[in-house]
Amino acid sequence: MSVNSRLSGFRDESPTARRGLLAGQGGHDPDAFRALDPSAGLTVEQADHMIENVVGVFGVPLGVATNFTINDEDVLIPMATEEPSVVAAASNAARIARASGGFRTSSSRPVMQAQIQVVDVEDPEGARLRLLDARHELMQAADEQDPQLVELGGGVRDISVRVVESRAGRYVVLHLMVDVRDAMGANAVNSMAEALAVRVGEIARGRVLLRILTNKADTRLARASAVFDAEELGGPDVAADIVHAGALAEADPYRAATHNKGIMNGITAVVLATGNDTRAVESGAHSHAVGADGRYTALSHFETDTGGNLVGTLELPMPVGLVGGATKVHPAARAAVGLLGVATAQQLAEVITAAGLAQNLAALRALATEGIQRGHMSLHARNVAVSAGATSDELPHVVSRLVADRAVRADHADRVLAELRAGGR
Ligand code: MEV
Repeated sequence: MSVNSRLSGFRDESPTARRGLLAGQGGHDPDAFRALDPSAGLTVEQADHMIENVVGVFGVPLGVATNFTINDEDVLIPMATEEPSVVAAASNAARIARASGGFRTSSSRPVMQAQIQVVDVEDPEGARLRLLDARHELMQAADEQDPQLVELGGGVRDISVRVVESRAGRYVVLHLMVDVRDAMGANAVNSMAEALAVRVGEIARGRVLLRILTNKADTRLARASAVFDAEELGGPDVAADIVHAGALAEADPYRAATHNKGIMNGITAVVLATGNDTRAVESGAHSHAVGADGRYTALSHFETDTGGNLVGTLELPMPVGLVGGATKVHPAARAAVGLLGVATAQQLAEVITAAGLAQNLAALRALATEGIQRGHMSLHARNVAVSAGATSDELPHVVSRLVADRAVRADHADRVLAELRAGGR
């Protein structure tokens, strides 16, 4: 059943009513999103099977970004984040993109790579060619480690061999490229790398040391682009200033780090909500942000088209999966994947990338216009008011006073609450 991601009035509902609206949207079971309520989510017993020394579970707010259209289909995007304004900003950018048809996405095959390091090799260049000569044998041996993956259409696609010069010597490093299908793939490629180690050492005539995937997953890329109508953005000057904002990030690593952090605000939130490995995606993203010249730069790019509208593009490694990790075990992650309605890891990777581009655009638009603090502060004011002890009834008054007084601080929240309770607004 198709989804309408517009959901007007969604933000005015209670969390329970919002879950009901989501269930109604995609023709889900009425209880489909109950696992997103902590009382029905991950239990301590389940958590105890996931990691070691479990003493509890840790909650993070999970919101839903609305307005997304990706490749002509509406999508509702679950985002787990502690940062106020992330979900609202992504939804807002998606609404602007929607006016010009939404996001277009694509991705490479889900090919992960493992590295096998060989040390103490007499003739690294000779070893390199011997290993390449043994390509077929090595690929076959690796595939034998995971017949199920091969049955599903995945498996080893190629090997390559590099000679890496280091301060401690020259290493022969074999890369194993594996199509991991709908898995994140770390277990699959690490098992293969460990299984090949002895034979690789024999062929290279050296000692095998590290056998591990690389998080620089540059053979597993996802891409998103969107046109943002200049008028919807606030006018041609705003579009032009967003180009300047993007250009500074391309040219200056200090700005690139913050620019990319804005992208990761969106990406990490969806990666976390779906039970995927946030650190793998983050290390992949930041390593991809280093260009061939060795300089750290922006992951996304902004240009204007002939009509003066803004065109945003983003490409980065996206090693996420639907099987094999916490995604299947964590009930809230399962619910989040159910909400997205994605059937493959590639589809998930593309949705996440669109969320990253939306987040980036929202930040740049705010920065190129009024700045981010006004929006941030009204959301931050909620946290300050709640910390000061405001009840749900008191919250709207305290928040609006903190913002109006331009004093979003704990001491002011205490004062406003005291006045309110004393009846003296
Ligand atoms: C804040 O979490 C993210 C931003 O700093 C991103 C950016 O500067 O582009 C607003």
